Amino acid sequence: MTGHTIYRSSSYAPVNIAVIKYWGKRDPTLNLPTNSSLSVTLSQSDLRTHTTATCSASYTSDSLLLNGKDQDISTARTQACLRELRTLRRKLESESPHPLPELSSLPLKIVSENNFPTAAGLASSAAGFAALVRAIADLYGLPASPTELSRIARQGSGSACRSLFGGYVAWNKGEKDDGSDSVAYEVAPASHWPDMRALILVASAEKKDVSSTSGMQTTVKTSSLFPARAEQVVPKRMKEMEKAIQGKDFETFGNITMAESNSFHATCLDTSPPIFYMNDTSRAAIRIVESLNQAAGKVVAAYTFDAGPNAVIYYLAENEAEVAGTFKCILGKKEGWEGQRGKAVTAKKELNGGA
Ligand code: ADP
Ligand code: DP6
Ligand code: CO
Repeated sequence: MTGHTIYRSSSYAPVNIAVIKYWGKRDPTLNLPTNSSLSVTLSQSDLRTHTTATCSASYTSDSLLLNGKDQDISTARTQACLRELRTLRRKLESESPHPLPELSSLPLKIVSENNFPTAAGLASSAAGFAALVRAIADLYGLPASPTELSRIARQGSGSACRSLFGGYVAWNKGEKDDGSDSVAYEVAPASHWPDMRALILVASAEKKDVSSTSGMQTTVKTSSLFPARAEQVVPKRMKEMEKAIQGKDFETFGNITMAESNSFHATCLDTSPPIFYMNDTSRAAIRIVESLNQAAGKVVAAYTFDAGPNAVIYYLAENEAEVAGTFKCILGKKEGWEGQRGKAVTAKKELNGGA
């Protein structure tokens, strides 16, 4: 090793959990979705990725280490992100009035840590690609906006585009074939509805057997429920959900969130071969939420499940004792929620502006 400079930058990105689900691509290469989606970005002090990007002439090739293990960096989706970021850096280098180091031609070493289960339906690909793109953009000193970075992160993993923003975030499916309008935007900052809480229940920290990428491809090809969901159900719910968030209407927010989760898992079951992301523990969590709401005579808790068995329960701070208290009490006593299956309650914090 000679005295080559090592350039370095680090970034954190939180996970986001969709209340209107992205499931299905109209263009698998560019990661363009069949429908728009909407999510809540969790607090960066909860579930998050921390990624450090360095580049140096002393490195021999690009590399990516995730939780201490070498990852294949040659996948088309990671390569698309690196290519876009290097192109922007190259532009900066060629347009700068004073000479800039040619970082765009140096190999990159990316080291990333997720502080929560990877590939278990807790949006690791979202936090992971958002952190990767932002760490490299910072390393390159790019003047790119969160919108521009969301367009790049989308190509790594669709849901990642929403983790570039905090609070309530929508991903517009876009109309253009080149994906330039398929980006995320902020519906409302976290401060707009500061009483929102999210409880994460880990039913299993194991890697899912059907990845989101391959699961949704099979759904698009084989589910007869899917076209109606993408063309009618979701567009209507997107509008209702945006309105519910603007009006801080938890009843509507909760009802749509639960209906969306169920609709998404129904299309998974309607896929051939069928995909089962939820397990008995997941279904028990649904029953607890149903009985909490029934007892309260209104919606005080709303469950949602991504492509995995782990539950996210949204509720308002005023119902903390009832909702979080009930879960803690039940989880403490019931088998199957703890031990090898991971911690029952891993996070329950205020949501804030993640980015
Ligand atoms: P999840 O439900 O966790 O998002 P996915 O099937 O969508 O599961 O994606 C999991 C994949 O995302 C991992 O196998 C890995 O390739 C990628 N990934 C997860 N975390 C990171 C990270 N921090 N940096 C880069 N890629 C990541
Ligand atoms: C169920 O973004 O992980 O979490 O674009 O293929 O990487 P790829 O898929 P990914 O899919 C997320 C699916 C979901 C719903 C959502 O986050 O909107
Ligand atoms: Co994912």
